[in-house]
Amino acid sequence: MQLELFHIKDMDTVVNVSSVKQRSPFRYPGGKTWLIPVVRQWLTSLANKPEVLIEPFAGGGIVSLSVAAENLADRVLMIELDSQVAAVWKTILGGDAEWLSEKILNFNMTYDNLQTELSKKPENIREDAFRTILRNRTSHGGILANGAGLLKNGESGKGIFSRWYPVTLSRRILNINKYKDRIDFLQDDGIKIINNYKMNQDVVYFIDPPYTAAGKKAGMRLYKHNQIDHEGLFTLLESVKGEFLMTYDNEEKIIGMAVDSGFKFEKVAMSNTHHAKMNELIISKNLDWLNK
Ligand SMILES: C[S@@+](CC[C@H](N)C(=O)[O-])C[C@H]1O[C@@H](n2cnc3c(N)ncnc32)[C@H](O)[C@@H]1O
Repeated sequence: MQLELFHIKDMDTVVNVSSVKQRSPFRYPGGKTWLIPVVRQWLTSLANKPEVLIEPFAGGGIVSLSVAAENLADRVLMIELDSQVAAVWKTILGGDAEWLSEKILNFNMTYDNLQTELSKKPENIREDAFRTILRNRTSHGGILANGAGLLKNGESGKGIFSRWYPVTLSRRILNINKYKDRIDFLQDDGIKIINNYKMNQDVVYFIDPPYTAAGKKAGMRLYKHNQIDHEGLFTLLESVKGEFLMTYDNEEKIIGMAVDSGFKFEKVAMSNTHHAKMNELIISKNLDWLNK
């Protein structure tokens, strides 16, 4: 606890998460719900409302969803390589949100039913989406990568039930359905897509890559796709015309890459009512807009 308090004091910026609405059906490892107030500050500080916000490593997609719902950009483009995560976004954004929400509401969660469902080979994308949500809500830490076990204890010893809130999940999915026309999704390589758009000044990027650049390699066990060319990403961003906000783990090596690329960086901590849980780096061409 002492260490945590010290950390908060040491941080340049502390984010208060009380104003954030949870919109994603995922409980995503490394999810950025807590950073939404900073993303809002960033986007509203820009001279013009962006035509497109691209999220090249979308995962649970809370930034894309919040930006679309709160109309902070005209359009949103989400990119994700993982086929199971992609199945969820393709299903919700592609016209099957109601189907998925019904499937979740009607599922009788027992350990046996869960095992049966998870052992089936999905026959189509929407079945894969349902299975992904089941797995995400019942595995340790929401981890979908191979090897993650099912929750045995979870919150108050409730095991697989501890994060299974069918009514809430189906409501979130139906809500996304209301503003889905402003969101596009591609199952693709985020770096390739940044490259495709790099000359376009009206595009902005929220970039949250898997954290595998520094020694800790936390991202390796969390995501199936975790190897990206981090140096190459920094170099690519030097040539991108639009604005970007990138997050990374707070590591000397990353700070070195940011400095070498001529970018600004700040350490940011999350505060909830009791203590700070996360602290990370945000990196951008300019951070003058950040409330400290
Ligand atoms: C740190 S997570 C993103 C979390 C997200 N910001 C959220 O709030 O849920 C990084 C994501 O990048 C994905 N990924 C890894 N390599 C990728 C690539 N080359 N292109 C697109 N996505 C990739 C991983 O599958 C993972 O979902």
